[in-house]
Order: sequence, then C-alpha cells, then structure tokens
Amino acid sequence: APRRRQLHRILLPVPGFRPRRRRRALREVPGVARRAGPHRRGEPDAGGRPPRTVRRVAPAIRSGRGRLPAGHGGTAGARRGVVGDRGPDHQLTEDVVRVTEIDGLRDLWYAVARSDEQSPAGARRVRLLGDDYTLWRAGGGRPVLAEAYCPHRGASLASASVADGRLVCCYHGWEFDGSGSCVHIPQLDPGLPIPPKACLRTWPVVERYGLVWACVGAPATDGPPRFVEADEHGWRVQVDFFEPWAASALRVVDNNIDQSHPAFVHRGTFGDPSRARVPPYELERTATGLRARVPQDVGGVGPQMGDADEGKRYERMQEVELLDLMHTRIRLSYGGQAPDYAFYGSATPVDDSSSIYVRVSALAGDEDVQPYAMFWDFSRRVTLEDKVVLEQTSPDFPVEVTREVHLRCDRTTLEYRRQLARLVSGGAEGEPEATDVPQPRMEGAVAQEPSAAEPAA
Ligand code: FES
Ligand SMILES: [Fe+2]
Repeated sequence: APRRRQLHRILLPVPGFRPRRRRRALREVPGVARRAGPHRRGEPDAGGRPPRTVRRVAPAIRSGRGRLPAGHGGTAGARRGVVGDRGPDHQLTEDVVRVTEIDGLRDLWYAVARSDEQSPAGARRVRLLGDDYTLWRAGGGRPVLAEAYCPHRGASLASASVADGRLVCCYHGWEFDGSGSCVHIPQLDPGLPIPPKACLRTWPVVERYGLVWACVGAPATDGPPRFVEADEHGWRVQVDFFEPWAASALRVVDNNIDQSHPAFVHRGTFGDPSRARVPPYELERTATGLRARVPQDVGGVGPQMGDADEGKRYERMQEVELLDLMHTRIRLSYGGQAPDYAFYGSATPVDDSSSIYVRVSALAGDEDVQPYAMFWDFSRRVTLEDKVVLEQTSPDFPVEVTREVHLRCDRTTLEYRRQLARLVSGGAEGEPEATDVPQPRMEGAVAQEPSAAEPAA
C-alpha cells in the first residue's frame, strides 16, 4: 500500500491519470472461486451437495476512508458526477455499489424471456447478474432455467436442441429432463446406470404477465410481485418492452420512480420545462418498498387514453409503488375523464452496466376506446427519451445519501437509496425509519418552499 501511494503521488500530475479508489463492496473468500448458484450462503443444497460458493458482503457504507490530499476535492466530486469542488477536506468513502455486488438482489425475480419468444423447440442463453444460464421448455411447455454448460464436456447448452421436452446436448447427445436429471446417454454401455453427477442444477422459474421470470437466489415469494391491475381488475395486459439497454438495472428502476425528470427528459412528448415543479406528495414506506401519490396536471398524454389530441390537459393522480427493490408499479388515474392505465416495470440485471428494460402495461379501456397501437406508439417515444439519458448514467449507484443533493421532490428516489443501503449493509428491511442511514442534505428548494429545508422523511 505505501508503494501504491507513492506511485499515485508521482502519477497524479499526469493528465488523464485517475487512481482507482473505488473499493468493491463484494469480496470473495480467498481461494474459493465464484460460481453461479443459490448456495452462496455456504449451505449445502437440497441434494446435500456441498456449497460451491462462499461469499460475503462487506458493508459498502463506511466513512472517513481515503481522505484526499488537499486540493483534490474536485477530483472526488467529479467521480460522483458532481460539477465543482466540494473543498479540500472532502472525503472519499465507499458510497457507491454496483448491482452484482448486492447479494440480496439475487433473491428477487427477474424477467428472463418473453413467453411468446421462448419456443418449445429450442434453448437460449440467459445472462443474469453476471452469470450465464440456459433457458428451455420441458414437458408441458414448463420453462426451466439450468446451468449454461453441459456437465460432460462443457458444451454450451444454449446450442442444445429440445425433443419431447428433453434438452439434448449438441456435443454427445446426452439428454436432460425438466428437473435437470440426465435421462439418456447414447454412449452408455447397456445395463449401466446413468452417473448421478450427470445432472444439471436448475433454478425456480414462473411464467406471469407474458414473461418468464427466474430467481437465482433464495426466493422469498412464489414469483415476482403482484400487478394488481392485471390480477384483480382484469385489465388488458401487454408486454410493452423486453429489450436490452446499456444501463445499470438500478438506474432503470430509480428512473421509474423519479418524479422530477419528466419536465426535461420528456419535453419531446409530454414534458414541459416551464412546469418543472413537482407538487408536494404523500410518501409511505411499505413492507417491501414504498408508495407515493403524486397529483399531476399534464398535457400531451392523450394517445395513452385513445385521444389523438396531444394538446389537451388532464388532471390525474399518479400512484407510484416500489413493489420490491427491482419492481415498480405506476397507476395513472384520470377520475373518469379518460380510461386509466398502469405500468408494471422492472429491469433484469444482465451485469453491472447492462440490463433488460422490462415493462408490462394494463389498460382499463376496451380496444375500441383505448387502442393499444396508439398507446404503444406514444409509450415508445416516451421510453426512448428515458433510454437516451439512462444509457449515459454511471453503473456506480450511490447509496450513501449524504453524498448527493436531494430536493423534496426527490423523496421517492432518496428512499430508494436508503432501502438499497439497508440491504447492502445487512440491515433489516421494513423498519419504520431509516435510522441507520445519515440524514441527507436538502438543498435548492428553500426559496420555493420554506419547509423543504427539513429532512425528506
Ligand atoms: S458435452 Fe454435452 S453431451 Fe458431451
Ligand atoms: Fe421517464
């Protein structure tokens, strides 16, 4: 370490040189290779097989580390995307995480394919949280998520064929059933049993809302969170998006609940920079996330209600829900002026800096009143506006809330950071107050709203 410090001192004046100061929150126990799988907590699996992986997450939030030399506060600020110098005493801390470093996120469900694109005839490669898997349909069309490579000689099972609900490896023709058991080896001498080790590990999979969902950790529920408009209200449900984005899944979810960007990001569709202020709104923490009710006065959204007139203004209530740390629900209610609709959003973390943008919509109106083609065409334009911005965001996601500046309108995204911070630091979820996270700074809104100088929660 002293030698590295010396090197940094020599290299710091070199233009373009930036010492890597960010420390990974996730560390692996020396000598133990990291492998995909649900056995990260060091427990044997159901079949008594020993754990393949032993990992531990170090708390990602620490303070007082790596104080910068005088005069380098600007560098630290720039690393966090903040313009300007925060002063010579600004401290570098472990205040950012990447999505694959948060072990608890492995226990959630992620959409890994569109149901209508997963044919019974073939297998495909799925990449989730930095690891590869194989997805295919077993007997009865049941989707199965299994290991990426064949246990015989390592052929990619994404190249396997599927026959009679069995996965047939492309290399030597070994066949596997939906439980991952090997059921046929063409080269096996007659009378000999199939070696018990010749099996594939599999993970829980469900099909819901037109998508195939998988969990590669220890799921706490039997599937992704409920989409009440689809499950209980019986609205028309469509998969709007299942497409790769070059953005961290955390940034995508954060954007789903962000209240202050539409005026600017969506000025090509329904945003109006002259109406950027967000009215005060209610926010409550729920057992697994948050819920906010934001009254809105919007124009330009007509096509989502089957009205081609984009100039008309509407008063609506936006109910934003963080269902868990990777799933959101947004309900837009027009009080009878127009048909309501709701969005069920998620992002599948492919790796730290890429994800699959997932969105399902539910429409209250019939097709003749609220045509889906018109709805989708408008939604597509709006979503592309988000995509352009999100694909330029950093994969380092801030969870140390005192390091960013928050306005009152940012309470939803501030609460998201707090809940992620609790997960990263191993704190219990669902506590009524974020007592384990320092209070954030509230700036910038004082002139508009005197009470905004108070903490957001
Ligand atoms: S590598 Fe799959 S059967 Fe040999
Ligand atoms: Fe947006």
